[in-house]
Amino acid sequence: MGLIAWVKKVLFPAPTPAAHASEPRRERVREERSATAAAADAPLPKQNSAKAATGAMLRPRVGPLDSDEVVTVVLESPEEDLLWRLSQRIDSGRLDIPVLPPTSVAALAMVNRPSVEVRQLVEAIERDPLIASELLRMANSALYATAAEAASVQQAVMRVGLKSVRNVIFGAAMKSSLGNARRLNEYAEEVWRQAQAVALVARTLSSSAGIDREQGYLVGLLHDLGKIALLGMLQTEMKDMGRLTPALVGRVFRTFHERAGRAMALEWKLPAEIVSVAGCHHDFAANSDHPREAALAKLAHEVDLRLSLRDESGLRALVDSPALAALGIADESARWRTVEAARTSWEAHESGAGS
Ligand SMILES: [Fe+2]
Ligand SMILES: [Fe+2]
Repeated sequence: MGLIAWVKKVLFPAPTPAAHASEPRRERVREERSATAAAADAPLPKQNSAKAATGAMLRPRVGPLDSDEVVTVVLESPEEDLLWRLSQRIDSGRLDIPVLPPTSVAALAMVNRPSVEVRQLVEAIERDPLIASELLRMANSALYATAAEAASVQQAVMRVGLKSVRNVIFGAAMKSSLGNARRLNEYAEEVWRQAQAVALVARTLSSSAGIDREQGYLVGLLHDLGKIALLGMLQTEMKDMGRLTPALVGRVFRTFHERAGRAMALEWKLPAEIVSVAGCHHDFAANSDHPREAALAKLAHEVDLRLSLRDESGLRALVDSPALAALGIADESARWRTVEAARTSWEAHESGAGS
């Protein structure tokens, strides 16, 4: 057995007969759809406030919204009308961009200064309970934890470093903005789940690609930022419609999220590479300003999508992805190891072990 074949065998053992992978794809999708429909009819679970405060993830009740199976479902007429109204608004530049929370603005301004007064930064963070709790959670997660617990914001800042503090602030801003889409909270939960999963996968992929890991995390976290603005607009436009289908939300996301992402990243005055990636990552080769960061976002997105769909063959196919070539990972053994490392970080996140 050659080296490549051995690496493949070790990293990607054949799926077990009990796994979903042995079923015809269409059957699986139908099953997952009916599970989603059943979940959608169930009463809303009471939000666990302790979990919400610490940022622990609740499993979204809708599945991935980016798959071809979801976005190609034929829409009924009220949803077609809503899609038309939304496209009219977006085409004429009338997007609703959520405001970046003032506490986030203040804290980010300090993090971005060349020299930071830690005491002032700590005070700014302490004024925002969401940022403070997320920061403490990160500082005491498996990624950073030492024998002693970080018990204060100051200790947490010192432990994780300024780049990670910045990432926490952006994450809290996203979470807070998603909270505005109350009528669509099942979709907001999936957007948040995806952002976190893609961020962690992107951080792992960054190690192989020679990209700063925290920068990679931020690219993953914010690459689909536009979905937040779109959820707010969907909520406004749905008026008295009781519920939206994953097909409509998925279609809106696929059609408009990069355009909305660029507008939102500009409005939030995000770094140039984030503006660029949020505006163009699916066709990453078309992103001439930041092609590597765009390829990173695209690859991390695909890893999350394939694993969320339990699409083992789709995950294996990522080894031949042009995004890996764009990231400069050419050696075949390195490609297999990179995809497997991405899977490991995704699974750690889904099981609640990731940070
Ligand atoms: Fe995207
Ligand atoms: Fe994405």
